[in-house]
Amino acid sequence: MPYDILDVNLASQGKSCIQWADSMMPVLCLIRDRFSKEKPLKGMRIAACLHVTSETANLMRTLKEGGAEVRLCASNPLSTQDEVAASLVSNYGIDVFAIRGEDKETYYKHIYSVLEMNPHLTLDDGADLVSTVHSKKSALARNIIGGTEETTTGVIRLRSIAKEGTLKYPIIAVNDANTKHLFDNRYGTGQSTIDGILRATNVLLAGSFFVVCGYGWCGKGIAMRAKGMGAKVIVCEVEPLRALEAAMDGYLVMPLLEAASLGDIFVTSTGDRDVICKEHFKRMKNGAMVANAGHFNVEINIDDLKELSVKINKVRKNIQEFVLEDNRRINLISEGRLVNLASAEGHPSRVMDMSFANQALCCEYLSKNGKGLKREVYKVPENIDKQVSELKLKSMGIKIDKLTEKQKEYLSSWRIGT
Ligand code: ADE
Repeated sequence: MPYDILDVNLASQGKSCIQWADSMMPVLCLIRDRFSKEKPLKGMRIAACLHVTSETANLMRTLKEGGAEVRLCASNPLSTQDEVAASLVSNYGIDVFAIRGEDKETYYKHIYSVLEMNPHLTLDDGADLVSTVHSKKSALARNIIGGTEETTTGVIRLRSIAKEGTLKYPIIAVNDANTKHLFDNRYGTGQSTIDGILRATNVLLAGSFFVVCGYGWCGKGIAMRAKGMGAKVIVCEVEPLRALEAAMDGYLVMPLLEAASLGDIFVTSTGDRDVICKEHFKRMKNGAMVANAGHFNVEINIDDLKELSVKINKVRKNIQEFVLEDNRRINLISEGRLVNLASAEGHPSRVMDMSFANQALCCEYLSKNGKGLKREVYKVPENIDKQVSELKLKSMGIKIDKLTEKQKEYLSSWRIGT
C-alpha cells in the first residue's frame, strides 16, 4: 500500500484519538452507518487534501464505508497529527501522505501522490489540491466528477478560477452551508484559536488588550471567546458594515496602526496578505504576541519582522522571539501558520461533526448528480444543510416547536394585515 507518514508505530495512540473524536461526532456516525449499508460511493476514487486530524480520520472512514477508495494528504504542513496518520494507514487501510512539519516540496509531493489515484472526486481545504489539478495536472480533470471545498479561503480561490471561466469541474462550497460556517468558523475557530494561543504561551487573557484583525465569522468567534475570558478586545476591519457590527457587539474598533501600540496579543483572521507588517511591528509593545488564525501564513509579514530583527530565539515549543534593534521583543506563535491547528488540535470534534457531515453528504450528492452539473461553484443543497441541522439537534437531545397549519397558511398569504 502506498503511503508516506512519520511512523506507523504511532497507530495505537492515533486509534484512541480517532475513537475519542468519533464519540463526539454522532451525525457523521449516523451517516457512516447508512453508508456502510447502502454503499453510495461504490467505485468512487476520492482524493482528499484536508488537515490530517482525528476528525478528518472519521470522515475518511465514513467515505471508505460508503464504498470509496480514499487517499489523504495534508492541507497545511503544520497541522498533521502523525499518530492519526499512522492509525489511518495501519488500522483503517487508508493511504495517507502527510508528515507534520513537512517542507513545501514534500507538501506538494504528497499532493501529487494523492492525485496519482486518478480521482473521481476531490475534497479540498484551501484549494491547493484543485489548483494543482488546474495548473499542473489538468489531464486528470477529465475523470473528475466534482469536488468540495471546506474553507472560506478555498472558496474565494475557486470563485476566482470560475470567474476566469476556467474551472474544470463543479465544486460544492461546503464552507457556505449554514451548518458549516455559522458553527465551525464561529465557535470552532473561536475556541480553538484561543486554545492554540493558550497552549503555546500560557498567557493570561484577563485584562489584556487582544486585537482581532478581521470580523468575519472566524473573527467574530475569536473576539467573542477572548472577551469571555476577560480580555479587552479591539477589532480592526476594512468593511464598514462589519466594523459597525463589531462596534455594536461591544468592541473597540480602530485602525490597526492605532491598535498596534495598545495590543498585548494580536490575531489575524482576514484571509488576506500583509495584514500585520513593518509599520505595525515598529509600534508594538515589548513582549507583544502575534498569531494567525487564517488559512495561509501570509497575513503576518514575517519577512518584515525578520528585517527589523537583530536576533531570533526559540523560546518555547511554538514561539519564536524576534529581538528588534531597540531590544523590544515580539513573539511570533506557530510561525504565523494557523494557530489553532499548529499549536492545538483544531476545532473540537462536536463542531467538525457538522462540517464533515456536510462533506460526506456532498460527496454522495456529487457521485449521484455531479455529471449533470456545470463547471461552477455551487452552494450546498438546502436539504443537506437542513438534514445536518435536524440530525445535530436530535443528537443533542433538543426538540423544537412545529408550526400549526393555520400558522403556515398565515405565513404564505398576504391577505391578513392590520
Ligand atoms: N479545521 C479546523 N479544525 C479542524 C479539525 N479538527 N479537523 C479538520 N479540519 C479542521
